[in-house]
Amino acid sequence: MLEVRSLSKSYAALRALQDVNLQVCEGQIVGLIGPNGSGKSTLFDIVSGFQQGDAGSIVFRGSSLRGASPNSIARRGLVRTFQHSEGGHRMTALENLLAAAGDQIEANLFAALLRLPQLLKVENANLERAREVLALLGLTHVENEYVGNLSGGQRKLIDLGRVLMARPALCLLDEPTAGVNPSLINVIVDALITMRRDEGITLLIVEHNMRAVTELCERVYVLAAGRVIAEGTPAEIQSDEQVITSYLGRSRPVHA
Ligand SMILES: Nc1ncnc2c1ncn2[C@@H]1O[C@H](COP(=O)(O)OP(=O)(O)O)[C@@H](O)[C@H]1O
Ligand SMILES: [Mg+2]
Repeated sequence: MLEVRSLSKSYAALRALQDVNLQVCEGQIVGLIGPNGSGKSTLFDIVSGFQQGDAGSIVFRGSSLRGASPNSIARRGLVRTFQHSEGGHRMTALENLLAAAGDQIEANLFAALLRLPQLLKVENANLERAREVLALLGLTHVENEYVGNLSGGQRKLIDLGRVLMARPALCLLDEPTAGVNPSLINVIVDALITMRRDEGITLLIVEHNMRAVTELCERVYVLAAGRVIAEGTPAEIQSDEQVITSYLGRSRPVHA
């Protein structure tokens, strides 16, 4: 579904990504792990069109993403979340999801008025989808709560909900459990499992919590200093000497 080939990216003298190769097959949940500064977010930025690579190619569902804008990539079914979620705290949970679908509504008011019946149909469809997404994520009971009043975990679920509005085929999730109370991490993990099972969504996830990685991912890539240093099942990468030295650490046992 996604094939990244020989991708490189530098920021002045800093080589953020060096000859990175990565594949995601349809229906999989693939993990991307590595120390801070190893290039994970940069890789997501380039795949989702927010930055351009210096060299290499990215092919999604058989066509190149080179030069494509984030919007056009999203329309093709590839969406991403950001490591730090943006705003929307003064909107309710439901409004937040509707705002994420806002792109689909005519920008030109006059054109919109001429097409009012069609517009209402789109708005109804969005409302229906937003309620469906809230139900999928177990958030129906907070539909009318301001997002600012929700817990960190619930806000992370809203981030997932925003990308789900577009019925994506592939989601890139940047640290979906970051900042979430450890006791609620399984709520996020369950939501991701539901996304794949009920909506057939393929996932590529940056995640530091190895327990979540082990539970979710059939394959994992390990980045260190911009290079892929290991690839395999969670069990394989957790016993890889180089991964243990450069990321997991010898003193920290990994609970599976
Ligand atoms: N816009 C930028 N300009 C300059 N350096 C950047 C920029 N974005 C990221 N970097 C650097 O590139 C490296 C990789 O960063 P990043 O992709 O954010 O890593 P990760 O997400 O794995 O923590 C880091 O050294 C970071 O400081
Ligand atoms: Mg990052």
